[in-house]
Amino acid sequence: MDYVPGLQGIPATQSKISFLDGQEGVLTYRGYPIVELAKHSTFEEAAWVLINGELPNSAQLTCFDGELRANRRVKYNVRDIMKFLPIDGHPMEALQTCVASLGMFYPGQERMTANGISADSEFVEQMIVKILASMATLVAMWEHIRRGDDPVQPRTDLTYAENFLYMMNEREPDPVEARIMDACLVLHAEHTINASTFAALVCGSTLAPPNLVVASAIGTLAGPLHGGANQRVLNMLDEIGSVDKVSNWLDQRLATKQVVWGFGHREYKVKDPRADILQGLLEELRQHRGGQISPLYDIARELERCADERLAPKGVYPNVDFYSGLLYEALGMPRDQFTPIFAISRTVGWLAHWKEQISHNRIFRPTQVYEGYPVRAYSPMAAR
Ligand code: COA
Repeated sequence: MDYVPGLQGIPATQSKISFLDGQEGVLTYRGYPIVELAKHSTFEEAAWVLINGELPNSAQLTCFDGELRANRRVKYNVRDIMKFLPIDGHPMEALQTCVASLGMFYPGQERMTANGISADSEFVEQMIVKILASMATLVAMWEHIRRGDDPVQPRTDLTYAENFLYMMNEREPDPVEARIMDACLVLHAEHTINASTFAALVCGSTLAPPNLVVASAIGTLAGPLHGGANQRVLNMLDEIGSVDKVSNWLDQRLATKQVVWGFGHREYKVKDPRADILQGLLEELRQHRGGQISPLYDIARELERCADERLAPKGVYPNVDFYSGLLYEALGMPRDQFTPIFAISRTVGWLAHWKEQISHNRIFRPTQVYEGYPVRAYSPMAAR
């Protein structure tokens, strides 16, 4: 039996949810290209198609959207949990803690095995809506609570993206900014069996409650090699400082064998199609603001140009995290909230995979290549 580090190239499941071709730079959700969904769809519609398999008709979308809006409020005890968390803790930790607690406020775990081994489908649908609707509220709540303010109550007259911007920034969302945020949510919603989705599958395969499935995935997304990279991209651009310093900085960085944040991907050997779309959205925002956008954007463009000579030959190009942070910062989001925003969106993919997993469940139980000692005699303390 060969051991493959990182399980690279080993299928972990069979899935109909998304497809990616890393050589061609193609990503589809249920067969629909991400480029088209980012342009023509909405987060609510993309969520429906990922979770249910087909594009919704008008009545289905209205009903799903209505349920999401109706479930935005979370129990006030969740707010009390947040009040006891250290304000300088990372928001991903706060988010994971609160999502993990949701099952205690919305119980029903016994319905995971309602028919012996399969879950009650009504419970599955209810929890998908409850968790997805709560995510934006939890992220925004923590932002206010850590500043010592009362959280902003969610509104039901706004779309998912509009309401999130409203709760975060406490002002009426600008329509162009809301459309950009919506496209970002669409772009991050799903990406086949990445590390966090795999974590969700493993947890889900034990028939654990869905909030704990999402909590496992949040913990996995938090690492800098996965969702945590976008925050580091901006710190890195700050460190570079100006466009004229990019080339030397990159030489030094590569000479000391350090990664360039926001570059490289296990699957893509060309530029991540999502990075192109996000860059287009940055250009759209720049135009909307009369040409004004962060100077870090120019540094990022120069870094991409220089990296094209030095990293592209290895198949290393900008990934989804390279431009997303610049956009989020331009929309008023604090840097340490970038990964939680990613988590809000990716909750769709996690829950879609959870639903698919439990519909034909078999618990994950891989094996290992043992390299330790053979059986040996226990040595008493005095003899060591
Ligand atoms: N910066 C510099 N070099 C990089 C790089 C990066 N971001 N990503 C890959 N490389 C180099 C590797 O050092 C390796 O070089 P070598 O062949 O000379 O040793 C080569 O490209 C192949 O990379 P590999 O380590 O096989 O890629 P991987 O599939 O194991 O790793 C990532 C994928 C995402 C973990 C890796 O690209 C990375 O750490 N990127 C930065 C973090 C990031 O942006 N994560 C978000 C992903 S969406």
